[in-house]
Amino acid sequence: MEFPIVRPRRLRQNASMRTLVRETDLRAQDFIYPLFVTQGENVKNEIPSMPGVYQMSVDHILREGEACLQLGIPAVLLFGLPASKDEKGSSAYDANEVLQKAVFVLKRAYPELLVITDVCLCEYTNHGHCGLISEGDVNNDSTLPLLAQVALSHAQAGADIVAPSDMMDGRVAAIRQALDVHHYDHISIMSYAVKYASAFYGPFRDAAGSAPQFGDRRSYQMDPANVREASKEIEQDLLEGADLVMVKPALSYLDVIRAVKEMTTVPVATYNVSGEYSMVKAAAQKGWIDEKSVALEMLLSMKRAGADIILTYFAKDAALWLKEEKS
Ligand code: PBG
Repeated sequence: MEFPIVRPRRLRQNASMRTLVRETDLRAQDFIYPLFVTQGENVKNEIPSMPGVYQMSVDHILREGEACLQLGIPAVLLFGLPASKDEKGSSAYDANEVLQKAVFVLKRAYPELLVITDVCLCEYTNHGHCGLISEGDVNNDSTLPLLAQVALSHAQAGADIVAPSDMMDGRVAAIRQALDVHHYDHISIMSYAVKYASAFYGPFRDAAGSAPQFGDRRSYQMDPANVREASKEIEQDLLEGADLVMVKPALSYLDVIRAVKEMTTVPVATYNVSGEYSMVKAAAQKGWIDEKSVALEMLLSMKRAGADIILTYFAKDAALWLKEEKS
């Protein structure tokens, strides 16, 4: 059958009809809100390249946790800005560091809020790489025990989920084993399984102070040209015990999200990264695009591509916008 019998516009006539046949639904409970924890008290510094995103001391982080719950956002993802950095990123597993403190106070104040921690060394090493350096490159196997120690310190502080973002081979297994030996077998691992070496992380590296001081991350993060390789990373991480998997970045990788969704039964997350956020903010500030509509359309596209969960700096705004649309 064809036109004039078939008229797709019949189902687009009005808002009720469109709602009835809508295939994808964006909800506040799909979001995870990333937060940057910094030293001090009553500190809230806006990140110049990410308007509306702040480095915050633990007291402000607490308020953010409350705001998320009020908006129906179930989880936060924490990054730490440590007091000191060294070759080995030792402050990453220091129980007295701000990240661990923030996890502890958030869980004490809001037990129902899921607290996820980013497990990586790049914010903690003086060279800005995600692992230990030997002979000019990031050494895989000597980094693994450190990552395990970091994840363990996050679990001890009270994290519900640890999220390794370093891209070392074998890190999920190393973390799973360390957690289990210390009776944290109930703590989940959300693996940044499919993480590309992307220029879209630029603004984040200002926010987290984690830009590599030499070279780049292409010897450990994935080549943006590859999609079959994503399957290999996912398979490996699931074998090692990942509970949830992530594709990162999101917007230029919607095909990868779809491919990952089709090959696995675990929840699929995607990270709407800093560069994707900043582009929208910058264009909106110039009056070139409508921030709300563009942001919601982007987030919807990630959901439609197959993401069950979206990590996004838009989480709070998007939750509010979605509420407004419903009322
Ligand atoms: C740390 C890490 C990065 C991001 C999340 N965890 C940066 C990187 O790999 O260089 C990027 C997040 C964003 O851009 O919003 N390894």
